[in-house]
Order: sequence, then structure tokens, then C-alpha cells
Amino acid sequence: MNDALTALPVSTDGIIAERAGGVGYLKLNQPAKLNAISYAMWVAIAEIMRAFREDDSVRVVVLSGEGGRAFSAGADISEFSEVRNTEAQIEVYETAGRAAYDAITHCPKPVVARIEGYCVGGGLAVALCADLRIATDDSRFGIPAARLGLGYSHKSLRPLVDLVGPTSAKEILFSAKRFPAAQAQRMGLVNQVVSREEIGAFVDDYAHTIAGNAPLTVAACKTVIGELLKDPEDRDTVLCDRVVDACFASEDYKEGRAAFMEKRRPRFTGR
Ligand code: COA
Repeated sequence: MNDALTALPVSTDGIIAERAGGVGYLKLNQPAKLNAISYAMWVAIAEIMRAFREDDSVRVVVLSGEGGRAFSAGADISEFSEVRNTEAQIEVYETAGRAAYDAITHCPKPVVARIEGYCVGGGLAVALCADLRIATDDSRFGIPAARLGLGYSHKSLRPLVDLVGPTSAKEILFSAKRFPAAQAQRMGLVNQVVSREEIGAFVDDYAHTIAGNAPLTVAACKTVIGELLKDPEDRDTVLCDRVVDACFASEDYKEGRAAFMEKRRPRFTGR
């Protein structure tokens, strides 16, 4: 794996996209607005995730926010009057947001959200699309919809309810409060809570650990868990069988067994 940090050709104002050592980094970069996500950024998120998906050198994706104050404070409200006002604009805007969420959720590679500071509204929705969330102990999580008068469809609420269950989802949505990291962890919203000093090394170590594991096994687990979260009648069990069979038929399965017997680290290729 190439350890040098290289910029991804697909980039935009407001987002930095880089890759190094098997990890793709998508950094929200609008710190003066607490990394609020503009229309152009929603579009770019989908493009960058597509580029990471197609890039064989990327095995794990890390999402983060620049500036230290926020992962993201949600959609960029300051441009709503220009880009999310008329019915036609709202439709275009929602389509771009949905494409960004879907590109993260359906990325076949594992996605880790590194969260420092505020993670609210659409910012939390982005973090919920990731597979794992690692946060600093001073982070704050919330969904202010009930203070803004917004409504959420059943499709938008499903990831939250799947993750934290109906009771905590109601607590988050009814109160519209901002919850500290420790409470977010108790609710199951975040996997790990670490200090500000630790988070950089912690997330990189985590990402590299996952990047060093058998890609087909990790991807198969992601696919099967994704199918298990669907309604039973919508589950693609044939797909589940296929991805599991692909693990057993792989070179990596041979390599994993050989490495274990030879007491060495395995070198997986994803084949
Ligand atoms: N869109 C656009 N700009 C935003 C923003 C957003 N979602 N969230 C924060 N900002 C801007 C603020 O307007 C402010 O800009 P200014 O310095 O030019 O005045 C700057 O970011 C800092 O935010 P501020 O509110 O001063 O920070 P704070 O620490 O007092 O509060 C929050 C932080 C997250 C609680 C607060 O910014 C907030 O409630 N943001 C909106 C969250 C929201 O409703 N998101 C839903 C959209 S999906």
C-alpha cells in the first residue's frame, strides 16, 4: 500500500479528498460555518465516494471535519433562500443530499466517521451513514428538527432508529437537545470516545487495522449486515450467499490460513 498522501482529482471548495496507506480521507472543509454542507458539497460527496469506491488502493474511508470545532453543523442554511426555496429547487437539493447519503451508506468499503465537536442535523445524518463513529469526549450530538419545524420521512429516520432503537431516537428527536459524547455512546450513537489528543492516531490506527484485514470478508460482512437491516421481504439472500462464497473461494482465504500456520501477518489482496 502506498503511504504517501495524495490528493484525489475529484475535489471541490469545501471538501478535501486525499488518500494514503489504503485509506481515503474525505474532509468537510468549511470551518467558518462549522463545516455546514452546501449544495456543491453534497454533490461532491457523492462524486468523491464514487471515486473511492472505484479506487483499488483505497480499502477504508475516513470522514471528518476540519477546524476542530465541528464534524458538521448540517446543511448550509445560509444558502437555503437561493438553492432550497422553490419546489423545483427543493427537489434538486433533496436529490443531491440523498445521493450523498446513499454513496456513503452503500460504499462497499468500510467508512469511519471521525467526529470532533458539533455533529448536528445533516452532519449527524452523514455520520450515521458511516459504519463506525469515533468521537472526541467534548463532541455534541443532536437533531434540531423539532426546533426548526422540519419533518423527516420514514426513510430518513430509519438509520437512526436502526442504530439507537426507538426510545433513544424519540429522546433525540423530541427534545432536539445536544447530547454529550458519553451519553451518545450509551445510546449506541458512537462506537468509541477518546480525547482530542488521541483521536488522530486512534482513528488512523483503526483505519489501518481494517485496511490490513481481508477486504472480501469485511465487504461481505457489510453486505450481509446491510441486508439484515432491511425488511425480511426485501432482503437479497442470494447476494448474501454469493459474497460469503466469494470469501471461501478467494486467494485471501488461502493466505489467511497459511499466515496463521506460519505465524506471520497475512498479506491480503482482495482476491
Ligand atoms: N449553516 C450555515 N452556517 C452555519 C450553520 C449551518 N448549518 N451552523 C453554524 N453556522 C455558522 C454560524 O452562522 C456562525 O457564522 P457567523 O460566525 O458568521 O455568525 C458560525 O457557523 C459559528 O456558529 P455559531 O452558531 O456562532 O456557533 P455556536 O458554537 O454558538 O453554536 C451550533 C453551534 C452548532 C449549536 C449552532 O451553530 C447551530 O445551531 N447551527 C445550526 C445547526 C442546525 O440547525 N442544523 C440543521 C441544518 S440540517
